[in-house]
Amino acid sequence: MIKNKVFVACDTTDIRKIKEIIKETQNTKLFFGYKFGLEFLNSKNGRKYIKSLKNQTTFGDYKFSDIPNTCSSAIRAVSDLNFNYLTVHISSGLDALRAAKKVSKTTKLIGVTILTSLNNKSLKEIGYNKDVKKLVLHQARLANKAKLDAIVCSGQEIKIVKRVFKGEIITPGIRFSSRNDDQKRILTPKKAYENGADWCVIGRNITKGNIKKNIQSLINHLNQ
Ligand code: C5P
Repeated sequence: MIKNKVFVACDTTDIRKIKEIIKETQNTKLFFGYKFGLEFLNSKNGRKYIKSLKNQTTFGDYKFSDIPNTCSSAIRAVSDLNFNYLTVHISSGLDALRAAKKVSKTTKLIGVTILTSLNNKSLKEIGYNKDVKKLVLHQARLANKAKLDAIVCSGQEIKIVKRVFKGEIITPGIRFSSRNDDQKRILTPKKAYENGADWCVIGRNITKGNIKKNIQSLINHLNQ
């Protein structure tokens, strides 16, 4: 049986909490990887802890967004952490994506499209003229041109992205409880996998409260 793959968003600065997350997600029905974002990566002991992690699938969610030289230098600077996956914003531009891809070696390079916390209204506020779906499709084409390994997009754009991008699809904005929190473009994990997500990224729905119970709810939801 092929297991559904989940990246747990380890959004905390507390190493004890990370250890608890890893312990409680040892589950035979799902495959878990661990995503470390800006909060943990910038914490005092975060880097050292990640370096000590063995035999886990790891994802450094740096969301680099800078000029080509800075993006590639930053990727080199974290290469000792041996992440399996690492993110760069597609809006950094084609040259930056190509420069990043040139130095990422065995780490899979993920292009981040429009954040799942944004909707059409937010895009207008920022000054974009295209709607979310058109912009994500446009960015997916760019990711394809830069030969990125994977793309981050919301569950609502997976089918569109798959038309032009053949790499892995990684989907945050996943909810199987009633709370949206700060996310605007959400989808259930079941629908996201049905749409073609290779990985769902799930943070608070797993890490807040009782982790074991939350995982059981996720499994029940997927089996419905
Ligand atoms: O708690 P929640 O499931 O909303 O966490 C989602 C995680 O995915 C967070 O760590 C967030 O930084 C990340 N993410 C996202 N939307 C993107 C890219 C990454 O929510 N477009």
